[in-house]
Amino acid sequence: MAAITLTINNELIGARQGQTILEVARERGIDIPTLCHLDGLEEVGGCRLCLVELQGSPRPVPSCVTRAAEGMEITTHSDKLIEYRKMLVELLLAERTHTCSICVQNGNCELQTLAARLGIDHVRFDYLHQQLPMDASRERFALDHNRCVLCLRCVRVCDAVEGAHTWDVRGRGSTSRIVADLDRPWGGSTSCTDCGKCVQLCPTGALFRKGATVGEMIKERGFLNRILERRRLAAQRRPA
Ligand code: FES
Repeated sequence: MAAITLTINNELIGARQGQTILEVARERGIDIPTLCHLDGLEEVGGCRLCLVELQGSPRPVPSCVTRAAEGMEITTHSDKLIEYRKMLVELLLAERTHTCSICVQNGNCELQTLAARLGIDHVRFDYLHQQLPMDASRERFALDHNRCVLCLRCVRVCDAVEGAHTWDVRGRGSTSRIVADLDRPWGGSTSCTDCGKCVQLCPTGALFRKGATVGEMIKERGFLNRILERRRLAAQRRPA
């Protein structure tokens, strides 16, 4: 794989052609926040938390879906980017109902961790106060739409790793919802294998194990890490 050279935060860095900016940065220990990205899953570039500034580009670019190229000059942590990231997390918090104190994933939630890292102690936008339904029709697992950030990890892992393609997205914008089997109660899904992969990769308390109460839902990805790592390495070997 051809080698390229680019600059990240004024440091000259070598990379392999085909790598994304995010991959290059993380290999160098530069911590760009992400939410929809997960090593080993196809990128969707949906959350925009990984935005970076690229010299010559009129707007920031999502580093998880932008390939590194020879001579690029990238900034990962300017004041403007930090402000964008704060705003994005605040918008997510305002759109649905993320009341951490009564959430099964309180203390283990990626959205909560991001908000804390970004120093978010209040939300500047009006809350939509949506009261969305909970689908508890499946025997072992449940889906609380109020906690969903539409990162689509569940859709992607079910499709690409489990091969069941139970999940999809219905609607647009703030009316978007994750749906099972083209919009039927999860309990009635005939494609779902109950493998639990979607539950373990969900960054928030949207997908959880029944019986878990406040703060008890700790996602266990051990059984998935090897699979995702193999997929990540295979993707790296594919020609750009
Ligand atoms: S991590 Fe890049 S857009 Fe979500």
